[in-house]
Amino acid sequence: MTETLTVLGIETSCDETAAAVLRRAPNGKVEILSEIVRSQIEEHAPYGGVVPEIAARAHADIADQIVATAIKESGLGLDEIDAIAATSGPGLIGGVMVGMMTGKALAMASGKPFIPINHLEGHALSPRLASDCPFPYLLLLVSGGHCQFLAVEGLGVYTRLGSTIDDAAGEAFDKLAKTLGIGFPGGPAVERLAKSGSPDRYNLPRPLLNRPGLDMSFAGLKSAAARIVEAGPMDMQAQSDLCASYQAAIADCLAEKTRRALALFQSKHEESTRFVVAGGVAANQTIRTALERVSAEAGAKLYAPPLKHCTDNAAMIALAGAERLAANMVSEPGLDFAARPRWPLDEEAAIKNPAYGGGKRGAKA
Ligand code: KG4
Ligand code: ZN
Repeated sequence: MTETLTVLGIETSCDETAAAVLRRAPNGKVEILSEIVRSQIEEHAPYGGVVPEIAARAHADIADQIVATAIKESGLGLDEIDAIAATSGPGLIGGVMVGMMTGKALAMASGKPFIPINHLEGHALSPRLASDCPFPYLLLLVSGGHCQFLAVEGLGVYTRLGSTIDDAAGEAFDKLAKTLGIGFPGGPAVERLAKSGSPDRYNLPRPLLNRPGLDMSFAGLKSAAARIVEAGPMDMQAQSDLCASYQAAIADCLAEKTRRALALFQSKHEESTRFVVAGGVAANQTIRTALERVSAEAGAKLYAPPLKHCTDNAAMIALAGAERLAANMVSEPGLDFAARPRWPLDEEAAIKNPAYGGGKRGAKA
Protein backbone atom coordinates (compact mmCIF):
# COMPACT_ATOMS: atom_id res chain seq x y z
CA MET A 1 0.00 0.00 0.00
CA THR A 2 1.23 3.45 -0.78
CA GLU A 3 -0.91 5.57 1.50
CA THR A 4 -0.33 6.75 5.03
CA LEU A 5 -1.68 4.18 7.48
CA THR A 6 -3.07 4.69 10.97
CA VAL A 7 -2.97 1.71 13.32
CA LEU A 8 -4.07 1.08 16.90
CA GLY A 9 -1.68 -1.21 18.79
CA ILE A 10 -2.40 -3.17 21.98
CA GLU A 11 0.18 -4.83 24.23
CA THR A 12 -0.62 -7.02 27.26
CA SER A 13 1.85 -9.92 27.11
CA CYS A 14 3.65 -9.34 30.42
CA ASP A 15 3.12 -6.73 33.12
CA GLU A 16 2.33 -3.62 31.09
CA THR A 17 -1.10 -2.79 29.74
CA ALA A 18 -0.44 -0.54 26.78
CA ALA A 19 -2.23 0.99 23.80
CA ALA A 20 -1.03 3.40 21.12
CA VAL A 21 -2.19 4.97 17.89
CA LEU A 22 0.39 5.75 15.25
CA ARG A 23 0.57 6.92 11.71
CA ARG A 24 3.13 5.60 9.25
CA ALA A 25 3.87 7.39 5.99
CA PRO A 26 4.81 5.41 2.85
CA ASN A 27 8.43 6.59 3.30
CA GLY A 28 8.51 4.87 6.72
CA LYS A 29 8.24 8.06 8.77
CA VAL A 30 6.30 7.45 11.97
CA GLU A 31 4.15 9.80 13.99
CA ILE A 32 2.92 8.56 17.35
CA LEU A 33 -0.47 10.17 17.97
CA SER A 34 -0.98 8.70 21.43
CA GLU A 35 0.63 6.11 23.64
CA ILE A 36 -0.30 4.89 27.08
CA VAL A 37 1.53 2.39 29.25
CA ARG A 38 0.20 1.29 32.59
CA SER A 39 2.72 -0.77 34.55
CA GLN A 40 1.70 -3.41 37.10
CA ILE A 41 4.97 -3.20 39.04
CA GLU A 42 3.20 -2.37 42.30
CA GLU A 43 0.93 -5.41 42.09
CA HIS A 44 3.86 -7.79 41.53
CA ALA A 45 6.46 -6.17 43.80
CA PRO A 46 5.44 -8.08 46.97
CA TYR A 47 6.21 -11.34 45.14
CA GLY A 48 9.56 -10.29 43.66
CA GLY A 49 8.44 -11.27 40.16
CA VAL A 50 5.50 -11.22 37.76
CA VAL A 51 2.62 -13.45 38.92
CA PRO A 52 0.70 -14.58 35.81
CA GLU A 53 -2.75 -14.72 37.43
CA ILE A 54 -2.39 -11.26 38.95
CA ALA A 55 -1.16 -9.95 35.60
CA ALA A 56 -4.11 -11.38 33.68
CA ARG A 57 -6.65 -9.94 36.10
CA ALA A 58 -5.00 -6.52 36.13
CA HIS A 59 -4.99 -6.44 32.30
CA ALA A 60 -8.65 -7.48 32.21
CA ASP A 61 -9.57 -4.71 34.66
CA ILE A 62 -8.17 -1.87 32.59
CA ALA A 63 -7.47 -2.93 29.00
CA ASP A 64 -10.74 -1.41 27.68
CA GLN A 65 -10.09 1.84 29.46
CA ILE A 66 -6.47 2.11 28.27
CA VAL A 67 -7.51 1.46 24.67
CA ALA A 68 -10.37 3.98 24.88
CA THR A 69 -8.01 6.61 26.30
CA ALA A 70 -5.40 5.98 23.59
CA ILE A 71 -8.04 6.44 20.87
CA LYS A 72 -9.40 9.58 22.54
CA GLU A 73 -5.93 11.10 22.99
CA SER A 74 -5.08 10.43 19.34
CA GLY A 75 -7.83 12.87 18.43
CA LEU A 76 -9.21 10.37 15.91
CA GLY A 77 -12.39 8.36 15.73
CA LEU A 78 -12.27 4.59 15.34
CA ASP A 79 -13.45 5.10 11.75
CA GLU A 80 -10.22 6.95 10.98
CA ILE A 81 -8.07 4.02 12.08
CA ASP A 82 -7.09 1.56 9.33
CA ALA A 83 -6.38 -1.54 11.41
CA ILE A 84 -6.05 -2.92 14.92
CA ALA A 85 -2.91 -4.79 15.89
CA ALA A 86 -2.48 -6.68 19.15
CA THR A 87 0.28 -8.80 20.64
CA SER A 88 -0.91 -12.37 20.15
CA GLY A 89 2.13 -14.11 21.66
CA PRO A 90 4.59 -15.05 22.98
CA GLY A 91 3.97 -14.18 26.61
CA LEU A 92 1.82 -14.94 29.62
CA ILE A 93 -1.20 -16.44 27.99
CA GLY A 94 -3.86 -14.88 30.26
CA GLY A 95 -2.62 -11.39 29.48
CA VAL A 96 -2.11 -12.10 25.78
CA MET A 97 -5.73 -13.30 25.55
CA VAL A 98 -7.05 -10.12 27.18
CA GLY A 99 -5.29 -7.80 24.71
CA MET A 100 -6.07 -9.98 21.73
CA MET A 101 -9.76 -10.27 22.59
CA THR A 102 -9.99 -6.52 23.16
CA GLY A 103 -8.45 -5.93 19.74
CA LYS A 104 -10.61 -8.54 18.02
CA ALA A 105 -13.80 -7.15 19.56
CA LEU A 106 -12.97 -3.65 18.31
CA ALA A 107 -12.04 -5.00 14.89
CA MET A 108 -15.27 -6.93 14.65
CA ALA A 109 -17.39 -4.00 15.79
CA SER A 110 -15.72 -1.56 13.40
CA GLY A 111 -15.14 -3.86 10.43
CA LYS A 112 -11.40 -3.09 10.46
CA PRO A 113 -8.75 -5.75 9.92
CA PHE A 114 -7.26 -7.38 13.01
CA ILE A 115 -3.51 -8.00 12.79
CA PRO A 116 -2.00 -10.53 15.24
CA ILE A 117 1.53 -9.42 16.12
CA ASN A 118 4.44 -11.39 17.51
CA HIS A 119 5.65 -9.40 20.52
CA LEU A 120 9.26 -10.09 19.52
CA GLU A 121 8.66 -8.58 16.10
CA GLY A 122 7.50 -5.45 17.91
CA HIS A 123 10.82 -5.28 19.76
CA ALA A 124 12.72 -6.09 16.57
CA LEU A 125 11.15 -3.12 14.77
CA SER A 126 11.21 -0.72 17.75
CA PRO A 127 14.28 1.26 16.61
CA ARG A 128 12.28 2.25 13.52
CA LEU A 129 9.80 4.17 15.70
CA ALA A 130 12.15 7.04 16.35
CA SER A 131 15.00 6.86 13.89
CA ASP A 132 15.81 5.97 10.37
CA CYS A 133 17.07 2.42 10.88
CA PRO A 134 16.94 0.54 7.57
CA PHE A 135 17.20 -3.25 7.29
CA PRO A 136 19.40 -5.18 7.79
CA TYR A 137 20.61 -4.76 11.36
CA LEU A 138 21.75 -6.90 14.25
CA LEU A 139 19.48 -6.86 17.31
CA LEU A 140 20.20 -7.86 20.87
CA LEU A 141 16.92 -8.20 22.73
CA VAL A 142 17.68 -8.33 26.41
CA SER A 143 14.79 -8.12 28.86
CA GLY A 144 13.15 -9.99 31.72
CA GLY A 145 11.70 -12.59 29.37
CA HIS A 146 14.11 -12.63 26.45
CA CYS A 147 17.80 -12.68 25.74
CA GLN A 148 18.66 -13.30 22.11
CA PHE A 149 20.55 -12.09 19.07
CA LEU A 150 18.50 -11.66 15.90
CA ALA A 151 19.61 -10.74 12.43
CA VAL A 152 16.77 -8.48 11.27
CA GLU A 153 17.04 -8.73 7.51
CA GLY A 154 13.63 -7.43 6.47
CA LEU A 155 10.02 -7.37 7.61
CA GLY A 156 9.29 -10.93 8.74
CA VAL A 157 12.83 -12.04 7.94
CA TYR A 158 14.54 -12.71 11.24
CA THR A 159 17.31 -15.16 11.97
CA ARG A 160 18.04 -16.10 15.53
CA LEU A 161 21.80 -16.23 15.90
CA GLY A 162 21.92 -17.21 19.55
CA SER A 163 19.93 -17.01 22.74
CA THR A 164 20.01 -17.85 26.41
CA ILE A 165 19.65 -21.53 27.15
CA ASP A 166 18.07 -20.87 30.56
CA ASP A 167 17.29 -17.53 32.23
CA ALA A 168 17.08 -14.16 30.50
CA ALA A 169 19.55 -11.52 31.72
CA GLY A 170 16.76 -9.38 33.23
CA GLU A 171 15.47 -12.42 35.07
CA ALA A 172 18.97 -12.93 36.49
CA PHE A 173 18.94 -9.36 37.82
CA ASP A 174 15.45 -9.89 39.27
CA LYS A 175 16.50 -13.10 41.00
CA LEU A 176 19.56 -11.60 42.68
CA ALA A 177 17.44 -8.69 43.89
CA LYS A 178 14.88 -11.13 45.27
CA THR A 179 17.58 -13.17 47.06
CA LEU A 180 18.99 -9.99 48.60
CA GLY A 181 15.51 -8.60 49.28
CA ILE A 182 16.31 -5.26 47.65
CA GLY A 183 13.23 -4.74 45.47
CA PHE A 184 11.47 -5.44 42.20
CA PRO A 185 12.19 -4.99 39.34
CA GLY A 186 15.66 -6.15 40.22
CA GLY A 187 17.75 -4.50 37.50
CA PRO A 188 17.48 -0.91 38.73
CA ALA A 189 17.89 -2.04 42.37
CA VAL A 190 21.05 -4.05 41.60
CA GLU A 191 22.45 -1.22 39.48
CA ARG A 192 21.85 1.28 42.30
CA LEU A 193 23.72 -0.84 44.89
CA ALA A 194 26.47 -1.73 42.42
CA LYS A 195 27.40 1.96 42.16
CA SER A 196 29.03 1.80 45.59
CA GLY A 197 30.46 -1.70 45.15
CA SER A 198 33.61 -3.30 43.80
CA PRO A 199 33.20 -5.58 40.77
CA ASP A 200 36.40 -7.43 41.74
CA ARG A 201 35.40 -8.67 45.18
CA TYR A 202 33.53 -11.80 44.08
CA ASN A 203 34.84 -14.03 41.37
CA LEU A 204 31.60 -15.09 39.71
CA PRO A 205 31.27 -17.44 36.72
CA ARG A 206 30.81 -16.20 33.15
CA PRO A 207 28.79 -19.18 31.84
CA LEU A 208 29.42 -20.34 28.25
CA LEU A 209 32.00 -17.63 27.69
CA ASN A 210 34.75 -20.11 26.93
CA ARG A 211 32.61 -22.06 24.51
CA PRO A 212 32.25 -21.07 20.88
CA GLY A 213 28.93 -19.80 19.64
CA LEU A 214 26.38 -17.18 20.58
CA ASP A 215 24.24 -18.95 23.14
CA MET A 216 24.17 -17.52 26.64
CA SER A 217 23.40 -18.85 30.12
CA PHE A 218 22.77 -17.07 33.40
CA ALA A 219 21.40 -19.82 35.69
CA GLY A 220 24.87 -20.81 37.00
CA LEU A 221 25.67 -17.20 37.81
CA LYS A 222 22.41 -16.86 39.71
CA SER A 223 23.15 -20.02 41.76
CA ALA A 224 26.72 -18.91 42.50
CA ALA A 225 25.41 -15.60 43.87
CA ALA A 226 22.69 -17.36 45.86
CA ARG A 227 25.33 -19.56 47.52
CA ILE A 228 27.25 -16.47 48.61
CA VAL A 229 24.09 -14.91 50.07
CA GLU A 230 23.16 -18.13 51.87
CA ALA A 231 26.65 -18.51 53.36
CA GLY A 232 26.01 -15.93 56.04
CA PRO A 233 24.92 -12.38 56.81
CA MET A 234 26.25 -9.71 54.46
CA ASP A 235 26.78 -6.11 55.41
CA MET A 236 25.82 -3.30 53.07
CA GLN A 237 29.30 -3.13 51.49
CA ALA A 238 29.30 -6.88 50.78
CA GLN A 239 25.86 -6.61 49.16
CA SER A 240 27.04 -3.70 47.00
CA ASP A 241 30.17 -5.64 46.03
CA LEU A 242 28.09 -8.66 45.09
CA CYS A 243 25.78 -6.51 42.95
CA ALA A 244 28.77 -4.90 41.22
CA SER A 245 30.46 -8.28 40.61
CA TYR A 246 27.21 -9.78 39.31
CA GLN A 247 26.51 -6.85 36.99
CA ALA A 248 30.10 -7.05 35.69
CA ALA A 249 29.69 -10.78 34.96
CA ILE A 250 26.50 -10.17 32.97
CA ALA A 251 28.10 -7.23 31.13
CA ASP A 252 31.14 -9.37 30.23
CA CYS A 253 28.94 -12.17 28.86
CA LEU A 254 26.77 -9.82 26.81
CA ALA A 255 29.77 -7.88 25.51
CA GLU A 256 31.75 -10.94 24.40
CA LYS A 257 28.73 -12.57 22.75
CA THR A 258 27.94 -9.26 21.03
CA ARG A 259 31.50 -9.08 19.71
CA ARG A 260 31.05 -12.53 18.14
CA ALA A 261 27.51 -11.79 16.91
CA LEU A 262 28.70 -8.60 15.19
CA ALA A 263 31.54 -10.48 13.50
CA LEU A 264 29.12 -13.12 12.22
CA PHE A 265 26.52 -10.60 11.12
CA GLN A 266 29.06 -8.38 9.38
CA SER A 267 30.52 -11.36 7.53
CA LYS A 268 27.10 -11.74 5.89
CA HIS A 269 26.06 -8.09 5.66
CA GLU A 270 29.16 -6.08 4.98
CA GLU A 271 27.06 -3.04 4.20
CA SER A 272 25.39 -2.94 7.63
CA THR A 273 26.97 -1.28 10.61
CA ARG A 274 23.83 -1.07 12.68
CA PHE A 275 23.59 -2.80 16.05
CA VAL A 276 20.37 -2.30 18.01
CA VAL A 277 19.91 -3.14 21.66
CA ALA A 278 16.35 -3.31 23.02
CA GLY A 279 14.66 -4.56 26.19
CA GLY A 280 14.66 -3.30 29.77
CA VAL A 281 18.22 -4.43 30.54
CA ALA A 282 19.47 -1.97 27.90
CA ALA A 283 18.80 0.70 30.53
CA ASN A 284 21.80 -0.55 32.53
CA GLN A 285 24.66 1.93 32.18
CA THR A 286 27.49 -0.59 32.73
CA ILE A 287 26.01 -2.89 30.11
CA ARG A 288 25.35 0.01 27.74
CA THR A 289 28.97 1.17 28.05
CA ALA A 290 30.29 -2.34 27.42
CA LEU A 291 28.10 -2.73 24.32
CA GLU A 292 29.15 0.70 23.06
CA ARG A 293 32.78 -0.33 23.38
CA VAL A 294 32.42 -3.59 21.42
CA SER A 295 30.34 -2.00 18.70
CA ALA A 296 32.85 0.82 18.27
CA GLU A 297 35.62 -1.79 18.04
CA ALA A 298 33.68 -3.53 15.26
CA GLY A 299 33.02 -0.24 13.44
CA ALA A 300 29.30 -0.49 14.16
CA LYS A 301 26.91 2.13 15.47
CA LEU A 302 24.85 1.30 18.54
CA TYR A 303 21.17 2.20 18.28
CA ALA A 304 19.26 2.14 21.53
CA PRO A 305 15.63 3.14 21.26
CA PRO A 306 14.52 5.61 23.96
CA LEU A 307 13.79 3.76 27.19
CA LYS A 308 10.01 3.97 26.80
CA HIS A 309 10.34 2.07 23.52
CA CYS A 310 13.04 -0.30 24.84
CA THR A 311 10.64 -1.74 27.39
CA ASP A 312 7.22 -3.16 26.57
CA ASN A 313 4.97 -0.68 24.80
CA ALA A 314 2.15 -0.62 22.27
CA ALA A 315 3.71 1.79 19.76
CA MET A 316 6.04 -0.98 18.58
CA ILE A 317 3.05 -3.30 18.14
CA ALA A 318 1.17 -0.66 16.14
CA LEU A 319 4.29 -0.12 14.01
CA ALA A 320 4.59 -3.85 13.29
CA GLY A 321 0.91 -3.80 12.27
CA ALA A 322 1.43 -0.76 10.02
CA GLU A 323 4.54 -2.20 8.38
CA ARG A 324 2.74 -5.49 7.73
CA LEU A 325 -0.30 -3.72 6.33
CA ALA A 326 1.86 -1.53 4.09
CA ALA A 327 3.69 -4.60 2.77
CA ASN A 328 0.48 -6.57 2.20
CA MET A 329 1.68 -9.15 4.70
CA VAL A 330 -1.62 -9.42 6.55
CA SER A 331 -4.09 -12.23 6.06
CA GLU A 332 -7.46 -10.67 6.72
CA PRO A 333 -9.51 -10.78 8.82
CA GLY A 334 -7.03 -12.34 11.28
CA LEU A 335 -9.89 -12.92 13.70
CA ASP A 336 -9.28 -16.67 13.67
CA PHE A 337 -5.76 -16.34 15.04
CA ALA A 338 -5.31 -18.24 18.33
CA ALA A 339 -3.04 -16.77 21.00
CA ARG A 340 0.39 -18.42 21.16
CA PRO A 341 2.18 -18.56 24.54
CA ARG A 342 5.25 -19.72 22.61
CA TRP A 343 5.93 -18.14 19.28
CA PRO A 344 9.56 -17.92 18.18
CA LEU A 345 10.32 -15.31 15.54
CA ASP A 346 12.65 -17.68 13.81
CA GLU A 347 10.62 -20.89 13.95
CA GLU A 348 13.08 -22.89 11.94
CA ALA A 349 15.98 -22.21 14.33
CA ALA A 350 13.76 -22.79 17.35
CA ILE A 351 12.66 -26.20 16.13
CA LYS A 352 16.19 -27.28 15.20
CA ASN A 353 17.74 -25.92 18.36
CA PRO A 354 15.11 -25.25 21.02
CA ALA A 355 16.71 -22.83 23.46
CA TYR A 356 14.58 -23.79 26.44
CA GLY A 357 13.81 -27.35 25.42
CA GLY A 358 11.04 -27.72 22.88
CA GLY A 359 8.46 -29.45 25.04
CA LYS A 360 5.04 -30.54 23.93
CA ARG A 361 3.87 -27.00 23.35
CA GLY A 362 6.61 -26.23 20.86
CA ALA A 363 9.67 -24.07 21.13
CA LYS A 364 9.58 -21.10 23.46
CA ALA A 365 10.63 -17.67 22.29
O1 KG4 B 1 11.67 -5.06 28.58
P1 KG4 B 1 11.14 -5.13 29.96
O2 KG4 B 1 10.48 -3.90 30.54
O3 KG4 B 1 10.08 -6.25 30.13
C1 KG4 B 1 10.19 -7.55 29.72
O4 KG4 B 1 10.85 -8.32 30.46
O5 KG4 B 1 9.63 -7.88 28.65
O6 KG4 B 1 12.36 -5.56 30.87
C2 KG4 B 1 12.25 -5.69 32.24
C3 KG4 B 1 13.53 -6.30 32.73
C4 KG4 B 1 13.49 -6.68 34.19
O7 KG4 B 1 14.00 -7.97 34.35
C5 KG4 B 1 14.36 -5.63 34.85
O8 KG4 B 1 15.00 -6.08 36.03
C6 KG4 B 1 15.36 -5.33 33.76
O9 KG4 B 1 14.61 -5.37 32.57
N1 KG4 B 1 15.94 -4.01 33.95
C7 KG4 B 1 17.25 -3.79 34.20
C8 KG4 B 1 17.38 -2.39 34.41
N2 KG4 B 1 16.16 -1.81 34.25
C9 KG4 B 1 15.29 -2.80 33.97
N3 KG4 B 1 18.27 -4.64 34.27
C10 KG4 B 1 19.48 -4.11 34.56
N4 KG4 B 1 19.69 -2.79 34.81
C11 KG4 B 1 18.69 -1.91 34.74
N5 KG4 B 1 18.91 -0.61 34.99
ZN1 ZN C 1 9.03 -7.42 25.76
